[in-house]
Amino acid sequence: MERTFVIVKPDGVERRLIGEIISRLEKKSLSVVAAELRTIDRATAEQHYGEHAGKAFFDSLVAFITRSPALLLVIEGPSDTWKIVRTLMGVTNPAEAAPGTIRGDLAVAMTENLIHGSDSAESAAREIALFFPQLA
Ligand code: RTP
Ligand code: MG
Repeated sequence: MERTFVIVKPDGVERRLIGEIISRLEKKSLSVVAAELRTIDRATAEQHYGEHAGKAFFDSLVAFITRSPALLLVIEGPSDTWKIVRTLMGVTNPAEAAPGTIRGDLAVAMTENLIHGSDSAESAAREIALFFPQLA
């Protein structure tokens, strides 16, 4: 089995889309193996999005992801789980995300695109260790 890390971002919680988003993952046959509603602290957010440090959108990205509670999820599937989740999410910009994807169906703004999913098996391991050290 292979695990990946997912965040229902603050906009998803605020818009009451937790159920919709988990439902799409579960209907695909992926399993929720850990879940926590948590307001992400600034230090953790900066570490999580460390690859974007120094970019023009970094400060607003950190402010957004820390503004209110997010749902942190560890998701499990047989293999390529991070890739399956990324396919269900759709591309980063909701204006370009395909219909049928979470971002394509439910979001309109690049800043508020509802969901994070790890972008590789290595990122998944790093992010699970950061947010759920007891599982790493
Ligand atoms: P995420 O990490 O949140 O799952 O999103 P992602 O992999 O699809 O996109 P990534 O490149 O990692 O960017 C992280 C988040 O930063 C915002 N962003 N804004 N203005 C811009 O050019 C820009 N680029 C990225 C997005 O909200 C994206 O989800
Ligand atoms: Mg990313």
